[in-house]
Amino acid sequence: MDFPRYLAAKKTVDDRALNKEVWWALRDHLPPEPAIIEVGAGIGTMVERLVEQGFIHQGRYTAVDHHPANMATAHQRLAHLPPALRLELVAEDLYAFARRIHGRETWDVLIAHAVLDLLDIATALPVLFSLLKPGGLFYFSLNFDGATIFEPAIDPPFDALVSRLYHRTMDERLVGERPSGDSHTGRHLFTHLKNQGTDIVAAGSSDWVVWARHGRYPADEAYFLHFIIHTMHKALQGHPELSAAQFDQWIAQRYAQIERGELVYIAHQLDFLGVIKPLPDQVIG
Ligand SMILES: C[S@@+](CC[C@H](N)C(=O)[O-])C[C@H]1O[C@@H](n2cnc3c(N)ncnc32)[C@H](O)[C@@H]1O
Repeated sequence: MDFPRYLAAKKTVDDRALNKEVWWALRDHLPPEPAIIEVGAGIGTMVERLVEQGFIHQGRYTAVDHHPANMATAHQRLAHLPPALRLELVAEDLYAFARRIHGRETWDVLIAHAVLDLLDIATALPVLFSLLKPGGLFYFSLNFDGATIFEPAIDPPFDALVSRLYHRTMDERLVGERPSGDSHTGRHLFTHLKNQGTDIVAAGSSDWVVWARHGRYPADEAYFLHFIIHTMHKALQGHPELSAAQFDQWIAQRYAQIERGELVYIAHQLDFLGVIKPLPDQVIG
């Protein structure tokens, strides 16, 4: 399966999902000519969306993603951004990038979209916030929060077991030596953000809800669903708590439901907009 195509197919799903209260609060808080950094930017659909919806037309946008193929696709997709918006694409691990840039450069706004649930949030947040100016704004969208729902049911107890084990793979995932992921990132962010001394300006749900209209999925959303089922298959293949034959059959039935335009997929997620506290002398001055 093709990851850049999955990210492109995800765009219309994300457009519907983004929490509109948090989204409009982002627009209201953006400085006029912002310097924005997005980590885990994928193929650049967020900067596209911000431009398409008139949120930004000038300033600076730095997009960081460790997959060179994503950045190469972003380079092609984003060729027609407004010339007054300076785009910088960086193919680098975000931790390495933050270390390299530390003390040299900071941004007004930090964006992480569908990314924080892949990271160890307690170690990632201080690193990410080091990229922001004092008093800077952060927008953390599509943070997975513990519910994967498929309709119609195939075998409810088995469906529930698959979801539960799939979520556990997120909680146990290691990238290198580093724990990377939390299946309840959304709700846990309330506490993590408080512990980091930030103020949450807006928060709300941003569930993915994917279903066919008159038997057809919009845009490339059938591919999006294929990718989701493929990802679950890969994550749980050979799992000792699943009968291999039953799981293979379950996967085949989910693919068949997509082909028939029957599958409904819902993933619960949360969005946040907030500010990091200004330095004490800025509060006084
Ligand atoms: C689920 S994708 C979301 C991409 C994009 N934000 C979007 O929604 O279309 C997560 C992205 O984070 C990137 N990523 C994950 N860990 C990273 C890291 N440590 N440094 C840089 N990028 C990372 C991946 O390459 C991937 O493109």
